[in-house]
Amino acid sequence: MTTFGTPLSPHATKVMLLGSGELGKEVLIALQRLGVETIAVDRYENAPGQQVAHHARTITMSDPAQLKALIEKEKPDLVVPEIEAIATAMLEELEDAGVVRVIPTARAARLTMDREGIRRLAAETLGLPTSPYVFCDSQAELQAAIDSKIGYPCVVKPVMSSSGKGQSKLSGPQDVQPAWDCAMAGGRVSHGRVIVEGFIDFDYEITQLTVRAVGASGEIETHFCEPIGHVQVGGDYVESWQPHPMRAAALQKSRDIAKAVTDNLGGQGLFGVELFVKGDEVWFSEVSPRPHDTGMVTMATQVQTQFELHARAILGLPVNTALKSPGASAVIYGGVDATGIVFEGVAEALQVPNTDIRLFGKPESFVKRRMGVALAFDADVEVARTRAKQAAAKVKPRAA
Ligand SMILES: Nc1ncnc2c1ncn2[C@@H]1O[C@H](COP(=O)(O)OP(=O)(O)OP(=O)(O)O)[C@@H](O)[C@H]1O
Ligand SMILES: [Mg+2]
Repeated sequence: MTTFGTPLSPHATKVMLLGSGELGKEVLIALQRLGVETIAVDRYENAPGQQVAHHARTITMSDPAQLKALIEKEKPDLVVPEIEAIATAMLEELEDAGVVRVIPTARAARLTMDREGIRRLAAETLGLPTSPYVFCDSQAELQAAIDSKIGYPCVVKPVMSSSGKGQSKLSGPQDVQPAWDCAMAGGRVSHGRVIVEGFIDFDYEITQLTVRAVGASGEIETHFCEPIGHVQVGGDYVESWQPHPMRAAALQKSRDIAKAVTDNLGGQGLFGVELFVKGDEVWFSEVSPRPHDTGMVTMATQVQTQFELHARAILGLPVNTALKSPGASAVIYGGVDATGIVFEGVAEALQVPNTDIRLFGKPESFVKRRMGVALAFDADVEVARTRAKQAAAKVKPRAA
């Protein structure tokens, strides 16, 4: 993309976000600042990103016909998937026909849409270290895979799910049936397929944000952010911090793995590569071809947030992945099942030094739904972690 148009004019540069949650909202704001005309798509009305975009559209994004009709009508220059559950085969068809460019590529969106495509690519095609795994279509197959290959402890996940939904850790045969039932109830599309993975007893896990952007030479260059450490509870991120201290060998391996995966997925944009680390050993876990939830910390820590990096990279602009200050993020959960909730304690939260918050504006709260995030920066990353958690704890969501 060489020129930028004026929004809402015939020469606008138009970008369509498929998924308009809290991550999409920040990407949309970054695009707005560059004078891009934005179309925020989600499956429900008043999604966070729809509240800040030029246009809001509500469709079933997993329905190929609805997706095709919307893209053909709006004619965006770029389509930017923000979630996994999209009719990616249709995106590939439209990309192949030259109708639209998908970020980073339609193939990357397809391969990362479920656990199977990306795991087979990483382990079998690229030969990267991963946990041992087997895909299973029944409880009997699951039991057989554990008995013959994986052993205990192990982790069972639906092939299509995120944020830890339907995921269980198994310590013995008594856990197999509950894990199977949990996966069947928690999967996004109930096609009854799971992955069972050997449990990796890692020292820590990181997200390696990796950006593919056009450099001064006109070629795609790969840039790395400082590693992000995080804590997951039940497969869902609760706090993150940056930088996570790492030994040089582990950091180098992490970046080599991130480079191999993102080179293969191709295109332009930011990726969140999830890695497990034990000593100098590193395992690939999964990758998002888009901003990552643990990367919300970059709103406190980086010169350009992960959202600005994504916006710039997809538009062909230069990027700067430099750290500004160490910092941390802590999730604010809904705590209640209700619509139109109110938040108390916001001023008290912001009394905590060097903190900030984001309230996403989701119309409906669930007990375990992420409704906001607290951010903190400090020269000492541990101080930042404590303050982010303090600030998050002071925000009290209530039914109105
Ligand atoms: N094989 C494993 N060994 C040890 N821990 C694991 C393993 N697989 C998953 N976990 C833990 O569970 C977390 C969530 O797993 P994973 O990232 O595969 O699920 P997810 O549902 O895609 O989560 P998210 O969408 O939040 O990234 C991991 O970050 C890690 O803490
Ligand atoms: Mg994950």
